[in-house]
Amino acid sequence: MCGIVGAVAQRNVVPILLQGLQRLEYRGYDSAGLVVVNNNRLERERSTGRVAELAAKSARSSGQLGIGHTRWATHGAPSERNAHPLISGGLVAVAHNGIIENYEVLRARLSAEGYEFASDTDTEVIAHLIHSHYARGNSLLAATRSALAELVGAYAIGVVAADNPAQLVCARRGSPLLLGVGDGERFIASDVSALLEVTRNVVYLEEGDVAEVNLRSHRIFDASGEAVERPVHVSTLSSDSMELGEYRHYMQKEIFEQPQALADTLEAVCYSQSLVPGIFGAEAAAAFSQIDSILILACGTSHHAGLVARYWLEEIAGLPCSVEIASEYRYRVSVPNPKTLVVTISQSGETADTLAALSHAKAMGHTHTLSICNVPESALVRLSRLRMLTRAGPEIGVASTKAFTTQLAALFLLTLVLAKQRGRLSAEEEQRHLHELRHLPSAAQAVLKLEGDIARLAENFAAKQHALFLGRGMHYPIALEGALKLKEISYIHAEAYPAGELKHGPLALVDKDMPVIAVAPNDALLEKLKSNLQEVRARGGELYVFADAGTRLHSSDGVHLMQMPEHAGYLSPILHTIPLQLLAYYVALQKGTDVDKPRNLAKSVTVE
Ligand code: M6R
Repeated sequence: MCGIVGAVAQRNVVPILLQGLQRLEYRGYDSAGLVVVNNNRLERERSTGRVAELAAKSARSSGQLGIGHTRWATHGAPSERNAHPLISGGLVAVAHNGIIENYEVLRARLSAEGYEFASDTDTEVIAHLIHSHYARGNSLLAATRSALAELVGAYAIGVVAADNPAQLVCARRGSPLLLGVGDGERFIASDVSALLEVTRNVVYLEEGDVAEVNLRSHRIFDASGEAVERPVHVSTLSSDSMELGEYRHYMQKEIFEQPQALADTLEAVCYSQSLVPGIFGAEAAAAFSQIDSILILACGTSHHAGLVARYWLEEIAGLPCSVEIASEYRYRVSVPNPKTLVVTISQSGETADTLAALSHAKAMGHTHTLSICNVPESALVRLSRLRMLTRAGPEIGVASTKAFTTQLAALFLLTLVLAKQRGRLSAEEEQRHLHELRHLPSAAQAVLKLEGDIARLAENFAAKQHALFLGRGMHYPIALEGALKLKEISYIHAEAYPAGELKHGPLALVDKDMPVIAVAPNDALLEKLKSNLQEVRARGGELYVFADAGTRLHSSDGVHLMQMPEHAGYLSPILHTIPLQLLAYYVALQKGTDVDKPRNLAKSVTVE
């Protein structure tokens, strides 16, 4: 969380910083701030509002060197005094993304040395530490390196000094950071989207790198202090893909981009006549032939994708599969099996818990690692031997939508490839699945036509405090995902249960004020689900049923039916996700919440 941007140029960098911060706002929006160096002074503006408010406050700021920050609060309330950049002695300013775990010890020591703390943040110790070394005559680079050596925790930082008007220093460990290489100007940012208007040439810093950034040059030192060259990549991200266009919110746009995102993710497969392991990397065939089980690690929505995949992997590929929440797995004593394929799933590829879970798995002796990720240059992709990139394009809304359905598409491909390699997929079955995958984008398009009906249905939810989601089998994780979407953006308390579990407790919650949302595909469990729905109606619960064609379910008193255009077999969880996304979106609109930036959350969770 938190976004950092910095610039050294021969023009006023304030507009560059503000534009970068606007693009990084998805990483955190509790407060925003910037510092510029002007006439050997640090000029700072901070705001607890959004970047637009900071822009108004900074209208008169000007300087050719500066750093900016947008915050997701960890240590200290979202107040102006805790907003970054943090300054030490009027000389050194720091913007930080991450958490310093030993900040209390350092704070006590620095206080004893005479440093006064003006904030409640962990970051302020970094500013004072760098200041303590810099004030003794060390270069800014050397002072920063000495300070970093004392830190325990995760960071990406940008540092400037009042008396050093054409240089910034930056470093990363555990949080993302890249350099932008312009023509006679240089930039830093948490991700490339922040720099699209100024450069597409970017250098991704590696774990432990520290860099000195000047107008026309930069020097990078690796974790051992050796000078290193890192390649310059040309980003292909289009700035159009970051714009809202005709849509009211990014979430709405991203829901509607799903047919294209699915088509793009499946592109390599849809035009071929057969499935090959190579789509997961050159070493995939060899690795897949050595495995006897799957372990999926992920968080939030990505974890739900893993839960769906377990049904596919066990039923179609015949592989035992366990799915764990990354933040639990990393601290649990588990029994490693070197023949397990460890699959991590992440939209951002920067989620701290998922990265740590992968490192933990490797440390336990797991060598077969595969990531399914939406960001090609992310840490997760770099840390995994095999990968499949979802091609959803930038996802800006905090609520994950197109990333989820494309993750499911990638996981279904993984299932088919493994099933084929294990002799569990006949040629006819392979062709049938390929045909269904080719049809998936247009099937998703057809589901989007329900938007108007769902918008009307959402009006019933605006006054509700709670909601219960039900599903069975591979649609139970879809119920979980529907509940997560609703609570995340509408702040309605929502829970999901496997429908068969209702009578074991949650049925006690059901009364006329409890809307119950059921995912009802036309599958083998339909009749069982219908019985569960009767149990709800008998208690006066109001039912909202998303049912496939052919289910013979009808609207009646207390039952609101939403008819899905078709039943998509194994791919049904992908299609059934879409109406639940739309429902959450329209309920949030009814409630007037900040759909793309729901309270207390951030898009990229780079802290523990
Ligand atoms: O980037 P990741 O997929 O690793 O993120 C994991 C979760 O933080 C994320 O899915 C979160 O649950 C979403 N906001 C849910 O909509």
